[in-house]
Amino acid sequence: MIAIASDHGGLELKTAIVELLQQRNMAYVDHGTHGQDSVDYPDYAALVAKAVTSGTAEAGILICGTGIGMSIAANKFPGIRAALVHDEFTAQMAHEHNNANILVLGGRLLSPEQGRKLVEVWLDADYEGGRHQNRLDKIAALEQP
Ligand code: RB5
Repeated sequence: MIAIASDHGGLELKTAIVELLQQRNMAYVDHGTHGQDSVDYPDYAALVAKAVTSGTAEAGILICGTGIGMSIAANKFPGIRAALVHDEFTAQMAHEHNNANILVLGGRLLSPEQGRKLVEVWLDADYEGGRHQNRLDKIAALEQP
């Protein structure tokens, strides 16, 4: 199950990625936004981050204009590793090394084709574990008061 959301700046790319998820027969929940009206990206980042931390969704996808706001907001939630990626290499590394549980994209930076490709690369990559798990454990430790 994938939880996906965008603000108005990411709506067009979200629509393209939802089509990809449908083509791949993947279960997903589209948390909005569904219209062109200006909305606040933290509200949507919270919906997807909570879906992932609660276990309702295995992973999430967030899209705003640049991806910056969504990544800042999502990473406020303990257990979330939201990765803003711009190309196939960073999309692959986000899964293989960082085990990112939320992929973040900039809707004003990527064409629908580019965005779909980055999602495919991230979905199809495998977390490598090993030395990377030690580093993720250290990130988790940073969340402790
Ligand atoms: C909305 O105008 C824009 O600020 C938002 O989509 C995103 O780029 C923020 O980081």
